[in-house]
Amino acid sequence: MMISNYKVGIIGAGISGIAAAKQLCHYNPIVFESTDSIGGVWKHCSFNSTKLQTPRCDFEFSDFPWPQRDNSSFPSYIEVLEYLQNYATHFDVFKFVKFNSKVVQIRHLNNHNAQHEYGRLLSGRPVWEVAVENNQTKIVEWYGFELLVVCIGKYGDIPIIPVYPKNKGPENFSGKVLHTMEYSKLDKESAKELLKGKKVAVVGYKKSAIDLAMECAQANSGAGGQPCTMVIRTLHWTVPSYWIWGLPFFLFYSTRSSQFLHERPNQTLLRALLCLLSSPMRKAISKFIESYLVWKLPLEKYGLKPEHQFVEDYASCQMAILPDNFFSEAEKGMIQFKKVSSSKWWFWKNGIEFEDKTKLEADVVVLATGFDGKKKLQSLLPEPFRSLVVDQSGIMPLYRGTIHPLIPNMAFVGYIESISNLQTAELRCKWLARLADEQFKLPSVTKMIEQTTQEIQIMKRTTRFYKRLCISTFSINHNDVICQEMGLNPWRKTNLFSEAFSPYTSQDYYF
Ligand SMILES: Cc1cc2nc3c(=O)[nH]c(=O)nc-3n(C[C@H](O)[C@H](O)[C@H](O)COP(=O)(O)OP(=O)(O)OC[C@H]3O[C@@H](n4cnc5c(N)ncnc54)[C@H](O)[C@@H]3O)c2cc1C
Ligand SMILES: NC(=O)c1ccc[n+]([C@@H]2O[C@H](COP(=O)([O-])OP(=O)(O)OC[C@H]3O[C@@H](n4cnc5c(N)ncnc54)[C@H](OP(=O)(O)O)[C@@H]3O)[C@@H](O)[C@H]2O)c1
Repeated sequence: MMISNYKVGIIGAGISGIAAAKQLCHYNPIVFESTDSIGGVWKHCSFNSTKLQTPRCDFEFSDFPWPQRDNSSFPSYIEVLEYLQNYATHFDVFKFVKFNSKVVQIRHLNNHNAQHEYGRLLSGRPVWEVAVENNQTKIVEWYGFELLVVCIGKYGDIPIIPVYPKNKGPENFSGKVLHTMEYSKLDKESAKELLKGKKVAVVGYKKSAIDLAMECAQANSGAGGQPCTMVIRTLHWTVPSYWIWGLPFFLFYSTRSSQFLHERPNQTLLRALLCLLSSPMRKAISKFIESYLVWKLPLEKYGLKPEHQFVEDYASCQMAILPDNFFSEAEKGMIQFKKVSSSKWWFWKNGIEFEDKTKLEADVVVLATGFDGKKKLQSLLPEPFRSLVVDQSGIMPLYRGTIHPLIPNMAFVGYIESISNLQTAELRCKWLARLADEQFKLPSVTKMIEQTTQEIQIMKRTTRFYKRLCISTFSINHNDVICQEMGLNPWRKTNLFSEAFSPYTSQDYYF
């Protein structure tokens, strides 16, 4: 078997893989992309109505401003793809990408030894072997790498499909069942045709489900229109815009002064005490935002007011932006809500049945139930790393959001989340490139585990939805230590006022 050896391999050409290729370009990396295009979820997992959930300047590479970056509207998925395409063209990243090349197996050389101390990321000899299947020819080729950067994404590819009681699955149902992953492959006309004049049940109450319910209401406007019902297991806070009682949203969580109130890793005893004392302040901020949302949106009328605090949704990166007119469609009866007390629901001939014996009639059931990113990753990694990648509580412990302390010569980009996943991914790729260049060294495995454990404990204390690996309440601190390790001043604003009260954007990390 012929194996071609290289220094750096990157798996995936979404936002993360393209950012990694740009930052590691001096190693001439190979980027394997299983599809025929870059963009990942923006290409393959978007609906016709999908937009970025933030203004463009919050989803921007530090050295590549959006055209009209001050336009405060949220760009469509097509604009996001164009932006990424232009970035990859401008920095000549396409030359690294091998399209239609799916990594189907990864082998570790010397994998008998799971307890590694990190030495150099680029050790001068291949550490990982990767089997790559060409989608068209089905020919499998092997490659060897000193460093493998995994950027296969947390969303897309593997849908979460609910488990039904025996003999109560979709085979009982006379209508159509599909996951949003299949729905996102439909063009505008086919999507409309699927929903128009049909009773639709949408399972889920997060961003995909909300957008889908809206598309459904739009397809059913006019004569013969049927309502769409959202099946809700957990209520979450949704926000109509980034303004709360006339104040910009960034003031609450995205500035140094606002994050000062929140816990961060490695804090001194005095800071820990301050954090304890500022707990009422954190609650008050959360309540302030909740009060606005309850005033602005008919949450109480529809029984949609979550019991948990707003900050828990924010701290788990799952705050969804509500499409315009969502509640006007609810007022018209075109979007309805059915709360379920658990995941216990199943199919009957004409729809869905719930634990309380109530039944919902439906012609189409769309599962907006999310994606299994951990399974996708685990299916690629060999043992013992497969079992190590996620800890007992289901979290990936990643040092600086990038390095798993027990998996040598491998990096992960796109797993840790924040309010802007692009900014988070790009900065960590810059850090990774300097680490590969040996501008600094990793600490011992024990120290890395200590650090990741601290971060995970903070996430667990802040939100019950901690499994998303979200750093949004201490993102500036997370970036600070990354800057320090790279030998850069973490305080990156031009004056103290901006340092305290303006949000950190990618352009602050232009270097
Ligand atoms: C519909 C949608 C909208 C979103 N909106 C926002 C938003 O507004 N703001 C935000 O910050 N985040 C958003 N996100 C989160 C989003 O996941 C990140 O912003 C970011 O785009 C993730 O990029 P990625 O490169 O890490 O992963 P992906 O985009 O998933 O890219 C992974 C790539 O790896 C490839 N791949 C997978 N397995 C293999 C393999 N075995 N071999 C070779 N290639 C492989 C895939 O084909 C894909 O191209 C959204 C997610 C979704 C699903
Ligand atoms: N930019 C955009 O406009 C946009 C659009 C779509 C998606 N996204 C992003 O893409 C990612 C994935 O979002 P997503 O909405 O597809 O998935 P998700 O966030 O994982 O949400 C899955 C939803 O399905 C529910 N669910 C799962 N299994 C269920 C079951 N057995 N019974 C009932 N309900 C069940 C979940 O309920 P629980 O809460 O109880 O788990 C949740 O409401 C997120 O990061 C999101 O922000 C962004």
